[in-house]
Amino acid sequence: MQALRDRKSCREFSEKELSLQDISDLLWAANGFNRPGKHTNASGKNKQSIEIYACLKSGAYLYEPETNVLRQITEEDLRPAVASWQDFAAKAPVSLVVASNLKDPLYREEEWKFLPAYDAGIVSGNLYLFCSANGFGTICRTTMDREKLKNALKLTDKHVLHLNHPIGYSPAISAPESYERLFPRGKKAVNENYTGGVYISLLAQSDRFGLAWLEFEPGSYNNWHIHPDAEQVMIVLGGEGFYQEEGKPRRLLKKGDVVVTPANVRHWNGATPDRPLLHLSVTDQSAKGHIEWMGKVTPELYQTSPKENEK
Ligand SMILES: Cc1cc2nc3c(=O)[nH]c(=O)nc-3n(C[C@H](O)[C@H](O)[C@H](O)COP(=O)(O)O)c2cc1C
Repeated sequence: MQALRDRKSCREFSEKELSLQDISDLLWAANGFNRPGKHTNASGKNKQSIEIYACLKSGAYLYEPETNVLRQITEEDLRPAVASWQDFAAKAPVSLVVASNLKDPLYREEEWKFLPAYDAGIVSGNLYLFCSANGFGTICRTTMDREKLKNALKLTDKHVLHLNHPIGYSPAISAPESYERLFPRGKKAVNENYTGGVYISLLAQSDRFGLAWLEFEPGSYNNWHIHPDAEQVMIVLGGEGFYQEEGKPRRLLKKGDVVVTPANVRHWNGATPDRPLLHLSVTDQSAKGHIEWMGKVTPELYQTSPKENEK
């Protein structure tokens, strides 16, 4: 429901790149297989004529749903050709072009000639909902430099270019509020060891372990600390975060990641600047006490370009 509530067209993009995982998820949402032989999108007469071309800074690629890979067509950056006169669209890091390959003779029958365009509309719906659910901006556009794209993408006279979707982060789109909160938000941790909004709720405790639910707002993090003689397991249930052990590169955390912190290892963690981090933590409480703070995580360390030290 929330994805539908948030769905809208976006005409303001930042240049921040999408992760490869996000691009892969987005292509799968557009035209991946979700069952043997069938796609995430419906298609008239199940003809599956849709082809998706991903235009990135590094070139343009055809998405091959059978293997979930991108096959490079050209090294040229075709985003300006997709944008045409709408300059805002050229800034988006990814532009997906939705085309049909009308190899099937069925499409030449009057009754069925609109089917591929309907199919493209369904792809567009998937993309809008994927983007609103994941905090990306997008817009369905039929504006594009069709001549240039036909040539550069090496399309045949059986191809029809339907529409395109520039996709990216946007100052106009905030991270979705729709992260599933499996547990109610806890109390805000207000002390010098937390920067930004961090909410902690102790769900269960015994002599041997403590189970806590933590929410870090975008841009919030904790200081360096250790768990004296105690291990901790962190299970990421939503959003995106960072985890760093002293002397090691910073890890980017996504939903489903599990981090085991050995006893007495200095580390910190937090949300990314754009996304909250929602996680459970299980801490061994049988030893001395479950946390010892070990110094400030500076804004410089937190802001270090993720590309330099991400796993
Ligand atoms: C088939 C189709 C073609 C569109 N083409 C363009 C376009 O070329 N340029 C543009 O700025 N918006 C384009 N739009 C976006 C519409 O203007 C937008 O969906 C409409 O104003 C409603 O706004 P909303 O999507 O935020 O609800 C297109 C939308 C559709 C469905």
